Amino acid sequence: MHLAAFMNAGAQGTIGWRHPDAADNFLSAEYYTHIARVLEAACFDMAFIPDALAMPRSLGGNFDPAVRWGSGTPRLDPLPALAIMAAVTRHLGLAATVSTGYHQPFTLARTFSTLDHLTHGRAAWNVVTSFQDAEAQNFGEDKLPPRDVRYAKAEEFMEATTRLWDSWADDALVMDKASGVFGHPERVRATDYKGEFFKVQGPLGVPRSPQGYPVIVQAGASPAGRDFASRWADVIFCSHESFESAQAFYADMKQRAAAHGRDPDQLKVIVAATTVIGATHDEAIAKHNAYAALVTPEAGL
Ligand SMILES: Cc1cc2nc3c(=O)[nH]c(=O)nc-3n(C[C@H](O)[C@H](O)[C@H](O)COP(=O)(O)O)c2cc1C
Repeated sequence: MHLAAFMNAGAQGTIGWRHPDAADNFLSAEYYTHIARVLEAACFDMAFIPDALAMPRSLGGNFDPAVRWGSGTPRLDPLPALAIMAAVTRHLGLAATVSTGYHQPFTLARTFSTLDHLTHGRAAWNVVTSFQDAEAQNFGEDKLPPRDVRYAKAEEFMEATTRLWDSWADDALVMDKASGVFGHPERVRATDYKGEFFKVQGPLGVPRSPQGYPVIVQAGASPAGRDFASRWADVIFCSHESFESAQAFYADMKQRAAAHGRDPDQLKVIVAATTVIGATHDEAIAKHNAYAALVTPEAGL
């Protein structure tokens, strides 16, 4: 069994900040180091931080509800939070969400390669294509491109990024103090990627990291998204309302991975579950009801 903890870089849940037991120090390093230690002690494989590049504006076309109720807000940058969590753990995987829509392959490849080195191979990247026009509007666009265009761009992003990660051979570094030779230039190659959306000369400025590539996480659900995920992902996240639909999704993703020439066993599918723990069933239900009573309808919307 693999366990990934879905945690925000901010308050937890729609109104998680409001719970009487909730810590209010989510703008401090101690909050993240505490969660990291708890997850590692509980044998979780991975801490996963979602992200979006905008304040939510889906209700009423403005950000007032997000600020007033603290729903989807704040969102700290996942990567520094994970780097701090890495420093107090040894085994926990560290997954950051970064959009292919509003970054460049070179900066992304460099950041994740650095995190993978500094954590001895524990970095993971949740590849998303963004989902709100509000995100597009922070990067010079009026609207998100249509889904097919977003996934075509993501496809190029992955091609360019993996080429950057492959630009240094495993044995490119020599560091021979006697001769003064630091590395073998013939074991480092330019990237020379030219696509419709991205052009990258390369090579990367960071030698190949322990995992080579970070663990690739994806959560595509549409046909385009499933195709992308089954081609690139090591881990697929999904959310299902019934056991049957989860099973059908699992079978579909394994079959798609095989169609891409991959070993389906290499693809792990993790389904979302929200758990409420109590010593008895009644205690758990009472906890759940107390939590639900804190949700203002506007925050939920
Ligand atoms: C568990 C889970 C976590 C997700 N986290 C994010 C996220 O942090 N940021 C984001 O932009 N999208 C996130 N998504 C959305 C997916 O990337 C994807 O866009 C969505 O499942 C719809 O699929 P589609 O892109 O094929 O239409 C998440 C989806 C799931 C199921």
